[in-house]
Amino acid sequence: MATPDDLRYTKLKLNTGSNSIPALGFGTLIPDPVATKNATKTALQAGFRLLDTAERYRTEKQVGEAMQEVFQDGKIKRADVFVVTKLWNTNHRPERVQPAFEASLKKLQLDFLDLYLIHTPFAFQPGDDQDPRDAGGNVIYDKGVTLLDTWRAMEALVDGGKCKAIGLSDVSLEQAKGIFDSARIKPAVVHVESHPYLPEWELLNYCKTSGIVLQAFAALGHNSKPNMLEDPIITAIAARVKKTPAQVVLAWAIQRGTALLTTSKTPSRITENFDVSAIPEDAVREISEGIKSQFRFNAVVKTGVPGFIPRQTENSDANHAKR
Ligand SMILES: NC(=O)c1ccc[n+]([C@@H]2O[C@H](COP(=O)([O-])OP(=O)(O)OC[C@H]3O[C@@H](n4cnc5c(N)ncnc54)[C@H](OP(=O)(O)O)[C@@H]3O)[C@@H](O)[C@H]2O)c1
Repeated sequence: MATPDDLRYTKLKLNTGSNSIPALGFGTLIPDPVATKNATKTALQAGFRLLDTAERYRTEKQVGEAMQEVFQDGKIKRADVFVVTKLWNTNHRPERVQPAFEASLKKLQLDFLDLYLIHTPFAFQPGDDQDPRDAGGNVIYDKGVTLLDTWRAMEALVDGGKCKAIGLSDVSLEQAKGIFDSARIKPAVVHVESHPYLPEWELLNYCKTSGIVLQAFAALGHNSKPNMLEDPIITAIAARVKKTPAQVVLAWAIQRGTALLTTSKTPSRITENFDVSAIPEDAVREISEGIKSQFRFNAVVKTGVPGFIPRQTENSDANHAKR
């Protein structure tokens, strides 16, 4: 009889409260609203218990509707699901943080949030325009607020009780350290792009020693070129352990101690991506040490402007460049 493999149910301890976070998470950065709702429902039904959204993705409403429909079926409860959303760059001014948080909760149809992230460390001109630009097309930044000012307002949300934990996204190691050192409530999670082509070892080691969970987005490389799922080291391991390349990459991410986010609008891939089990330790090492390619697929860390670098494929999805 096969040994039960619980890798897919891995939870990582959070430094805030007594909560833990599911390692395997489902992201909802899907351009089409109907596809977002369907994929979110399928993900919950397939077993995912962490959903990631953001004010900027404009998917909170669909994620909220999907959760409500699944909860009404009675098999999955709100308490079973870890919900994450993010404060957008135009809401960094402290007085804008609580209203933005409440607006997200409302769209999600929730009365508390498990994790709220500052989406990027870049403050944009406050206002309703999520992408403020000057006449020359340049982003208008807000120099009147620091990341620490915003963090203090995030701490107040935890004090208020409706936000269980707070964290940072798209930060450098130095920015993470800066907030950690000054914070009254420490960042529980640092959420950055990471995968075998961008392992972020230094940041991961810092997070581990500081009790922060590193949550890796684009865990499968966002289906971009060069396609990590076609890397010869990954495909050879997949053939050896009789799993798909995606399952190998996701197992590697959990086994090296990160949480992760993957996304798909395709039901069979959603099921495949939850059906993750442990790979041998020598395979984990082979990926960590044998893969030398280095690629960042999302340029948001440089400017705060979200955007996967357009795929070098004929079917390049222009919408993804805006998220
Ligand atoms: N904080 C930030 O700045 C930031 C930025 C980007 C993303 N994120 C978050 O991270 C989440 C995950 O990022 P991501 O979308 O780049 O994830 P990803 O899982 O690396 O890439 C998703 C792409 O891979 C394809 N795919 C999924 N499973 C597959 C499989 N088993 N085999 C082959 N291809 C597969 C999907 O195609 P189909 O959909 O066609 O199946 C989709 O095109 C996002 O949804 C979002 O929540 C955060």
